[in-house]
Amino acid sequence: MALTIDVLTLFPRMLDGFLGESILGKGISSGALAVKVHDLREWTTDRHRTADDRPFGGGAGMVMKPEPVFAAIEQLQTPGCRRIYLTPDGVPFSARLAAELSRETHLILLSGHYEGIDQRIRDGVIDQEISIGDYVLTNGTLAAAVVIDALARFIPGVLGEEKSLTHESFASKLLDFPQYTRPAEFRGMSVPEVLLSGNHAEIEKWRHARQVEKTQKVRPDLLQ
Ligand SMILES: C[S@@+](CC[C@H](N)C(=O)[O-])C[C@H]1O[C@@H](n2cnc3c(N)ncnc32)[C@H](O)[C@@H]1O
Repeated sequence: MALTIDVLTLFPRMLDGFLGESILGKGISSGALAVKVHDLREWTTDRHRTADDRPFGGGAGMVMKPEPVFAAIEQLQTPGCRRIYLTPDGVPFSARLAAELSRETHLILLSGHYEGIDQRIRDGVIDQEISIGDYVLTNGTLAAAVVIDALARFIPGVLGEEKSLTHESFASKLLDFPQYTRPAEFRGMSVPEVLLSGNHAEIEKWRHARQVEKTQKVRPDLLQ
């Protein structure tokens, strides 16, 4: 069964262009996955469509209220779906987690705003909390987009060439090798001779050596 993703956000229009473009856009129109973006204010009940309030205990900023979020998730959830909150204090997102999520059939991605969300939402209707990195965004909509984009690449049929996944950064413990295209000479910079040789064994050897070199230099932690 194809994967369905429901995104809950206060800024649904942030995803307008993103979902229609490029490989992801094609994946969605081919039916490999479905992404539905919902405005959380649809589940507010007052005239002002209030989704946030001041924090108990004081402090700066606003906190997202539990009522609209509970109502939205309870309406959208299906048996076995995974309900995810994007948050800087969640578990780090990774290629491995992206691959794992791509095998689900239904995900709900909740984007926070302001100072975050009422803890009772996290305790009551969230299964997993994911961070896309050690920095703080103004809201979680872009984080949801990052998760969707990364997991979509693992869904069969979304990428043109399935094998293009195998050498990529994080597919193993190595980063990707350098790529070149025509022209073979550009502003005095030449493409490495071996790539023009047609000798596939030598090309593989060269690429692997570049992967090791790059990983040692930039991400030695991956090799440990
Ligand atoms: C300003 S942040 C709230 C930060 C929160 N007070 C904290 O310090 O952990 C607002 C929203 O942006 C999203 N967000 C910010 N940084 C993120 C990150 N690194 N990964 C995932 N979501 C993030 C979350 O949904 C969060 O509720």
